[in-house]
Amino acid sequence: MSTNRISLIKPDDWHLHLRDGEALRTSVPHTARCFARAIVMPNLLPPVTTVASALAYRERILAAVLPKQTFTPLMTLYLTDELAPLEMERLAKSPHVIAVKYYPAGATTNSQNGVTDIEKVIPTLERMAELSIPLLIHGEVTDPDTDIFDRERLFIEQVLSPLRDRLPELRVILEHITTQDSVDYVKSGGDGLAATITVHHLLHNRNDLLAGGIRPHFYCLPILKRSSHQTALIEAAISGSPKFFLGTDSAPHLRSQKESACGCAGVYTAPAALELYAEVFEQHNALDRLEKFASVFGPQFYGLQPNTEQVTLIRQDWQLPESYPFTAEDTVVPLRSGDKICWQLK
Ligand code: NCD
Ligand code: ZN
Repeated sequence: MSTNRISLIKPDDWHLHLRDGEALRTSVPHTARCFARAIVMPNLLPPVTTVASALAYRERILAAVLPKQTFTPLMTLYLTDELAPLEMERLAKSPHVIAVKYYPAGATTNSQNGVTDIEKVIPTLERMAELSIPLLIHGEVTDPDTDIFDRERLFIEQVLSPLRDRLPELRVILEHITTQDSVDYVKSGGDGLAATITVHHLLHNRNDLLAGGIRPHFYCLPILKRSSHQTALIEAAISGSPKFFLGTDSAPHLRSQKESACGCAGVYTAPAALELYAEVFEQHNALDRLEKFASVFGPQFYGLQPNTEQVTLIRQDWQLPESYPFTAEDTVVPLRSGDKICWQLK
């Protein structure tokens, strides 16, 4: 018998890009419509590298929350070669800034200020380990000669595994994992290691990006992998292991910058994110495990309480718009643009 309605503890999004300026008027309400909290990525230009700038960004986000919505942005700092251990003391004292994001320099959108060599940031990482500040990792090597489909696996071997041997107390979240290798590594890693999984990596594999024509709206980093990796991610998400939880990596870009000869990386999933996760869990007969993945394991890893409100999804078709306004001149195209979505948020 199929379920027509599910209620769950209000979920949170543990990995989100909101951008800045007028884009917030679109991105913030889309996330706040169903997520109570979200970890907001700091990869703005210039990046968010101080507690003071994170708090100012937080105010700009809060100003874009609609009157009927409640939303708590959880802010992060961008790890650069220069980020000082002293800033970690300030972070530890702020209830609103809760983690640090590590982009290897050159790995993805706005990562040019990222870490050039892990050795340069060891003192800051040591201070984070002492203060129990989580490190959120974009896990891909950036050597231009390394095949793009191998970058995540090699990052674990070459950077993450040695780092965790050296700093076993550091709490690490491997963000938006895309491979069986990452699933295995996270499972075997002890309580201080967890991973987020996006809905687009659960729903899609590289054929959707590349077979029968190139589809730029499926282009993201880490890039979609082959279907056996997609299967491993699905198994991890529905496994009931507290080490895997929801992080959309919803990453809006202007349509003109996606549909381009050199398109930007990032998939915009926020307008139907929870509904699409429900679709995946249902396809795999695991709707009963959606709540833990979406609403319980994330706060548990971050040492926070689950939300007290509930949300309800109803089985009812609705059509996602083709695009949304994003700047005065251009729009953003969501995943499943113009398509039917089978779950609807009440
Ligand atoms: C993200 C973005 O656009 O900011 N893009 C993406 O493809 N995921 C950055 C990131 O998380 O890698
Ligand atoms: Zn991201």
